[in-house]
Amino acid sequence: MKAQRLDKLLASTGKWSRREAKLLIRQGRVLTDGVPAASAEAQLDPETAEIAVDGEPLRLRENTWVMLNKPAGVLSATEDGAGPTVLDLLAPELRRKGLFPVGRLDKDTEGLLLLTDDGALAHRLLSPRHHVDKVYRARVDGCLTGEDCAAFRRGMVLKDGLHCLPAELEILEAGAVSEARITLREGKFHQIKRMLAARGKPVLYLRREKMGNLPLDPELSSGAYRFLTDRELKTLQELEIPPKKDKT
Ligand code: URA
Repeated sequence: MKAQRLDKLLASTGKWSRREAKLLIRQGRVLTDGVPAASAEAQLDPETAEIAVDGEPLRLRENTWVMLNKPAGVLSATEDGAGPTVLDLLAPELRRKGLFPVGRLDKDTEGLLLLTDDGALAHRLLSPRHHVDKVYRARVDGCLTGEDCAAFRRGMVLKDGLHCLPAELEILEAGAVSEARITLREGKFHQIKRMLAARGKPVLYLRREKMGNLPLDPELSSGAYRFLTDRELKTLQELEIPPKKDKT
């Protein structure tokens, strides 16, 4: 990999701005290959250099992965003239990294949203071929029944022609207002709202709780975010591509 300036490498983790990185280096808190770094301009190969800050080895990743607890009222988009986007919730040094949301949540939907600059892996997470389940919690106006569960299980073709793959509807509470957990393996526009509207039970509240094996960190308050851990990223990278069905 191409050598890069030390302050740039530190800033690329998203933990520090370039200015903060320079300060850390001046304060002697950054070691490269075991010795205090002499200058922010030192050129290092991110693949081989051993960098530590305050004694903690630094992991330099090629891509950035952020887990956000999306609040209602912000758009899952990278720009929008009319209102705040999820990027506005990030620190300025992260906003400059070209991150984009992995799929979309509606403006009023809350919960787990990943942001990254890794287009290939993001694509794999979203493709229905890879069977990455997306799990949502929904509050619904109306009493959910076993017939609704069966309709989800069969898959639905909506009046507007939208084909929805089989999905799981688990009733957590049934009443005039019901609570449910819904698992989709695709993410079509307003999909849960449209499926439940087709059952005559409109969504009142929606939150994404999980993508694949990755649950929303319960420590993240609404609007807060953190970097994915190495283990979390590995789980995403290890998603299997199922073999293509033989047509013969
Ligand atoms: N389904 C919806 O209807 N909205 C979302 O934001 C996500 C899934």
